[in-house]
Amino acid sequence: MSIIQAQHIMLNDPAHARAAFDPKYAHGSAFTNGIYADLDHATVPLSDLGFTQADAVYDVVSVSKGWLFRLEDHLERFERGCAKFYLRNPYTKAQTIDILTTLVKQAGTKEAYVWWAVTRGKPQDSARRKNPDNYENRFYAFVVPYVFICPDEQRTRGIDLMVSQKYLRIPPESVDPTAKNFHWMDLKLSLFEAGRNKSDWSVLCDAKDNLTEAPGSNIFLIKDGELFTPDAGCLEGITRKTALELAAQIGMPIHVEKVHVEQLRNADEAFLTSTAGGVMPVNSVDGKVLGGKAGPGELTTTLHNLYWTKRWDGWLGTPVDYSHPT
Ligand SMILES: Cc1ncc(COP(=O)(O)O)c(C=O)c1O
Repeated sequence: MSIIQAQHIMLNDPAHARAAFDPKYAHGSAFTNGIYADLDHATVPLSDLGFTQADAVYDVVSVSKGWLFRLEDHLERFERGCAKFYLRNPYTKAQTIDILTTLVKQAGTKEAYVWWAVTRGKPQDSARRKNPDNYENRFYAFVVPYVFICPDEQRTRGIDLMVSQKYLRIPPESVDPTAKNFHWMDLKLSLFEAGRNKSDWSVLCDAKDNLTEAPGSNIFLIKDGELFTPDAGCLEGITRKTALELAAQIGMPIHVEKVHVEQLRNADEAFLTSTAGGVMPVNSVDGKVLGGKAGPGELTTTLHNLYWTKRWDGWLGTPVDYSHPT
């Protein structure tokens, strides 16, 4: 079995083609603080604490073949994240769905990356800043055509992954990673470290050499046909949840538990998961080709292909009605 060329299909299959849209939305559509705009003209007030202090919760859902994938799961995770950081979404769930769907329709994108956030909003004076109720939280969203963070070529040969030597993931006791947040510096700098080492991607450990997650993605390994992924120190990714469900469907034993970095180095297969890339096979870890054979492993390939084919059949999807652009 070979890796489905999902990116090629998205770009070339007429069933995935962009619906009619106003040319002003060519780069995307946006909603900032109550106002719809095209992406190029949407702005953030500079004093917003989301911008100045990374004080925000966000989420990303994707659309493929015109189906929003696991929208409810993303909305629920978002609301849980807001509660953990004492942020209030100024819009109800129904209003949030309406805003996101309107943006997808405006952009006409059947393949889309749909981003939204609630920020702390305006700074308060010192007497008021200790109470989260005193802030006027703000809502922002945008939709752009889907861009694979791991293109066909890379998924087909497999990612060359490095375990970051320089950076540890921010501990959960400092910033709870299950609330999807703007604290990206450890992830981003480890990615630059990987670039300097001629690797494709990095993965970060905690202080005890247990795996946590990778920039923008969760990590999985397969050993003797069994699937392992960390239970803590990471975002509870929606693609991670999907991979776990697909693995259960094909009868793989599953372990969501502490996973030591040496288990990754000795794995038969490994992959990353992300809304912006689906299931992303790993070829090597720190220069060692996994399973003694270059390229994606067999079980990883099965999960990868199931992920896209099931999505394109509408599995756990919410259809977008493009016939009524707004
Ligand atoms: C830090 C981090 N971990 C994991 C993920 C994967 O989560 P999901 O599958 O919900 O996209 C993301 C997604 O952006 C992320 O930012």
